[in-house]
Amino acid sequence: MKVSTLRRQAWDVLQAAEIADPVREADWLLASVLGFPLHTLIFEGDRTVSPVQAERAWTLIRRRAERQPLQYLLGTQEFRGLEMAVTPDVLIPRPETELLVEATLQAVLDIRGPRMLDVGTGSGCIAVSLARGRSDATVVAVDISASALAVARANALCHGVGNRIRFVQGDLLTAFSVSPDGVFDVIVSNPPYVPAGELDALQAEVAWYEPRLALAAGTDGLDYHRRLLRGAPELLKGGGHLILELGRGQSDQVQRLSQQTGAFISLECRKDAAGIERVLVARVGAGGALRVPVAPQNATGDGPPSAIVGAGGVRGT
Ligand SMILES: C[S@@+](CC[C@H](N)C(=O)[O-])C[C@H]1O[C@@H](n2cnc3c(N)ncnc32)[C@H](O)[C@@H]1O
Repeated sequence: MKVSTLRRQAWDVLQAAEIADPVREADWLLASVLGFPLHTLIFEGDRTVSPVQAERAWTLIRRRAERQPLQYLLGTQEFRGLEMAVTPDVLIPRPETELLVEATLQAVLDIRGPRMLDVGTGSGCIAVSLARGRSDATVVAVDISASALAVARANALCHGVGNRIRFVQGDLLTAFSVSPDGVFDVIVSNPPYVPAGELDALQAEVAWYEPRLALAAGTDGLDYHRRLLRGAPELLKGGGHLILELGRGQSDQVQRLSQQTGAFISLECRKDAAGIERVLVARVGAGGALRVPVAPQNATGDGPPSAIVGAGGVRGT
């Protein structure tokens, strides 16, 4: 079969499946599976593909027509100029999460050898970017999913920071012990934040194929924010920052929850390119967290901060 025929048929299939940009997506998939550069695909339409190559191409096109995300089929997504490997075990990194990295690097600008914690690392896009952005940093990345951590480790190795990130399997902050001087200069997280009732209304690619573990966050979508706001201050050094990604319309409520902890001396929300308040930057005082947090109503999770006592650092890993 000629490449040009394969291309036209693939476009038709993706168009019928209501893929928004069927021509570009078909071309990316075909170029990837046939091992051609895009320009060869486009300008050398008379080339022939073998039946085996055509079958491999059709397998991918059919999977895309079933709304499997393009990034899982290609196995990669760019994040801050780095190609991050992605599998269905991890959330596909989003462009707005790059703001979280910028805010985090900015927060430690004046700190030598900063200690940074990325909670819910997924593909490792944040942790890898931080390690590459600050060669003197110690970066710890935690996720509850062993399969996500395997992807994150592979990305760290691929981008030359495999020996600079410590990967920990754990439930949010529970793997870490408090030390009197704090443990981390900054804790950053893009936690799950989709309210349970909104999961099925998400775009098919997200709702059907991205991991629920990376999305679902209880009735109001703030289960993880509550736990992080309560648990992080005890782990932060004096003047340290907690930096959280927010879903659309969550900013006011998360700021209220932050104030209720009584632990932060400043709160700032930053907007993304679409004008959505996307990043919360919360800072504890120079003496560290005020140790009299007020538990938010209906709070669930990590237990009273006073229960977390230890020598500091990672527990048992
Ligand atoms: C929204 S994704 C973020 C992934 C990645 N950091 C990013 O920005 O693309 C949330 C991540 O949190 C992880 N996660 C969910 N529950 C967790 C928990 N209780 N403790 C640690 N990680 C958790 C998921 O496995 C997922 O990788």
